[in-house]
Amino acid sequence: LKGIPFALLGHPADLAHANAVIGRRVPEPLLLKLLEWTPPFVMAEFELAAPSGTARGIYITCPFVPETVREQPFGCLAKVRQACRLAQQRGARLVCLGGFTSVAARPRGRSRLDGLCLPYTTGSRLTAALAVDACIEAAELVGLSLPGSTVAILGGLGEIGSRCAGLLSGRVARLFLTARRVQRRHVPEGLVGARLLADNELAAAQADIVIATAAAPGPLVSTEHLRPGAICCDVGYPVNVADSGRDDVVIFRGGLARPPQPLDFGFDIGLPHSGLTYGCFAEAMVLALEGNPALPAAELEAAFRARGFRPAGFWRGARELTSDDFARAAAARQGAREGWL
Ligand SMILES: NC(=O)c1ccc[n+]([C@@H]2O[C@H](COP(=O)([O-])OP(=O)(O)OC[C@H]3O[C@@H](n4cnc5c(N)ncnc54)[C@H](OP(=O)(O)O)[C@@H]3O)[C@@H](O)[C@H]2O)c1
Repeated sequence: LKGIPFALLGHPADLAHANAVIGRRVPEPLLLKLLEWTPPFVMAEFELAAPSGTARGIYITCPFVPETVREQPFGCLAKVRQACRLAQQRGARLVCLGGFTSVAARPRGRSRLDGLCLPYTTGSRLTAALAVDACIEAAELVGLSLPGSTVAILGGLGEIGSRCAGLLSGRVARLFLTARRVQRRHVPEGLVGARLLADNELAAAQADIVIATAAAPGPLVSTEHLRPGAICCDVGYPVNVADSGRDDVVIFRGGLARPPQPLDFGFDIGLPHSGLTYGCFAEAMVLALEGNPALPAAELEAAFRARGFRPAGFWRGARELTSDDFARAAAARQGAREGWL
């Protein structure tokens, strides 16, 4: 069965990533100018083959880095709109707004993609579900009881963060949600045991599980802030958590999936290997294979499995975590608990 053609929108995670993709060391000020002057363009075309179906995909890059989305929000919005038009001209019938392209699409919090005749997804449903499922599995592996645990969600009022909070509400003891500004802002209705904080380091230091979902141009906390034996799932692109190499915590990239076949775009998209993809891209691929951009949330996870996608497992940089990593964190948790007694 033929699915619908789709387009994935992405961008370099930072200037070093942009230089690595270009294969040069362009000085920063010049590189920023080059990115500013370059319109979105197609970087890869591919055929996605899954059990009982195929779909044609393209990858379009929006030449900006996350800092630029903050500094020139309307210039970046214009690029996202241009990329969507390009996707449509190339026959796409669904667009995925990956990484900061979704942030750029709503400057000052309001979506400005009205008027586009193309359905789009930010992929936050699957990204959040994959991140939360991975945290639950990691908790079991380090012997952490979920109902008594404290979870910090950095960027917890954002699209992915608030979905993670919703999925964990009532299943954990405490939820700390962070945001840059907390005055006159509230915890979303219906969340059980949730508090809002402006201090990412404080929230991370008190948590058994940290889910980092902030749209920030660089790390907000370091593994040095984590409790011994803590679990840290970093969903950010670029990452939210600087990894100092501590081996008594479990830290991994969150919200990733294994597609039914490796997808080699011919350049580094910021993942350990071509057998992995971002949860947002996976969501668009599943919708495209199903031929239904409006697939209800309840059917998404079943379609994900049926189409041969799987969770990514636990990746720390380029390395897949092993049972030893979980055992060390479990021992550190136990040691810290005994120290408290
Ligand atoms: N792993 C994956 O597959 C995947 C898929 C899609 C997206 N992503 C990444 O996930 C992240 C979140 O995406 P999103 O679509 O949920 O973005 P979003 O809706 O804009 O939410 C991000 C949240 O981060 C908060 N934030 C920004 N800076 C912060 C800081 N210094 N401290 C605390 N909170 C901060 C923002 O809140 P305030 O503005 O109120 O502070 C905002 O609510 C991005 O890094 C994106 O690139 C990953």
